[in-house]
Amino acid sequence: MSGALDAAARLDWVSRPAGPLRGTLAMPGDKSVSHRALMLAALAEGNSHISGFLEGEDTRATAAVLAQLGVSIETPAAGERIVHGVGLHGLRGADRALDCGNAGTGMRLLAGLLAGQAFDATLVGDASLSRRPMRRVTEPLVRMGARIDTRDGLPPLQVHGGQRLRGIRYESPVASAQVKSALLLAGLYAEGETDILEPHPTRDYTERMLAAFGWPIRFEPGRVRLAGGHALRATDVHVPADFSSAAFFLVAGSLVPGSDLLLRAVGLNPRRTGLLLALRLMGADIEVIGERHSGGEPVADLRVRHAPLHGIELPTALVPDMIDELPALFIAAAGAKGTTVIRGAAELRVKESDRIATMAAGLRTLGVAVEEAPDGAAITGGTLASGTVHGHGDHRVAMSFAVAGLVARDGVRIEDCHNVATSFPGFMELANGCGFALRLA
Ligand code: S3P
Repeated sequence: MSGALDAAARLDWVSRPAGPLRGTLAMPGDKSVSHRALMLAALAEGNSHISGFLEGEDTRATAAVLAQLGVSIETPAAGERIVHGVGLHGLRGADRALDCGNAGTGMRLLAGLLAGQAFDATLVGDASLSRRPMRRVTEPLVRMGARIDTRDGLPPLQVHGGQRLRGIRYESPVASAQVKSALLLAGLYAEGETDILEPHPTRDYTERMLAAFGWPIRFEPGRVRLAGGHALRATDVHVPADFSSAAFFLVAGSLVPGSDLLLRAVGLNPRRTGLLLALRLMGADIEVIGERHSGGEPVADLRVRHAPLHGIELPTALVPDMIDELPALFIAAAGAKGTTVIRGAAELRVKESDRIATMAAGLRTLGVAVEEAPDGAAITGGTLASGTVHGHGDHRVAMSFAVAGLVARDGVRIEDCHNVATSFPGFMELANGCGFALRLA
């Protein structure tokens, strides 16, 4: 990218001390569920209506890829899609590369879906996605009979069509819902059974949704099995509000004195809610109100009120259930009394940025003592100074530091926030609506 383009694409924020935070907020739709709903609906027979769809750049990129593959997708209103499914064998090859943007979930799941097609396809992504490891999906897919070329384990991915896939038993070395889901999507096209074992149970949206689309599947925490040779039947999907987006408000509401926020109908899939438990261990006051089911997923309203937080040794068993929320936890730890120790989180190093390094660097700029470890950090909380931190084009890093600005002496300037819209369009408006003082720099 040229310097001029870089400058044009860059978006800097200033977040200043403010509050108390008050109000009732609706979070955008869940990113993981939105990606999967599009993909399964595309492969189904008939029309599926998706509501609560995340209008984020990541999920829109997946919709655009599916459109390139011949799937007609209507947008009757914001947050809604009608997907005209083409059936398992109805996709057609595209004449251009398929651009997944910033989305690891999009690229890795599409790799599995494309492995079983009759045509060749190339998956590309932005600069951040082009640095993310893909062998974790291509290796097991190749064992299933797929042919995929990478650039030394990195994107672009060239997926060769016309391969015969067979089911495998795969003991995954990483706890990754993306790896599991890629293999399940390839497994739809494979002869025999695909049997996946995980080192720690991960989010099970693909499993639940395949069942909802009528595919026979057996799953329990940590293991899933399915066989090829069935069909997906169109169904309507309601996407719950994204717990990962709620995370920033749970931390902000806890840190800012006098705050009282109600977050409406947030998805509480147990594989996503580690942060809720971690914050409670730190002394947070978070109430789960009116637990119910919506679209096959547990949801509830979350009420968070300010409470003094203290440091904890984060139980490593919670880490996979809060892998996307750890940047927000870094901020909670910085505002807590005492030291918080996070270990067992090496996966953070291969997210949209190296989140251990980017969060540690930003917090140090704000005068917080952080000791980095290969798989985590020890953060000693206290008062936050002002400063300029880098968002590294990582949506969750940018939003985490927007929360930090609320309690930093004269606020925080955050550089490179343009990717926030990948997962949380409208974050700034929603945040300011409940009492943040967040502005473009
Ligand atoms: C996701 C799985 C997680 C998570 C990502 C979304 C998914 O990644 O970090 O934001 O939708 O399957 P890993 O599978 O790499 O852990």
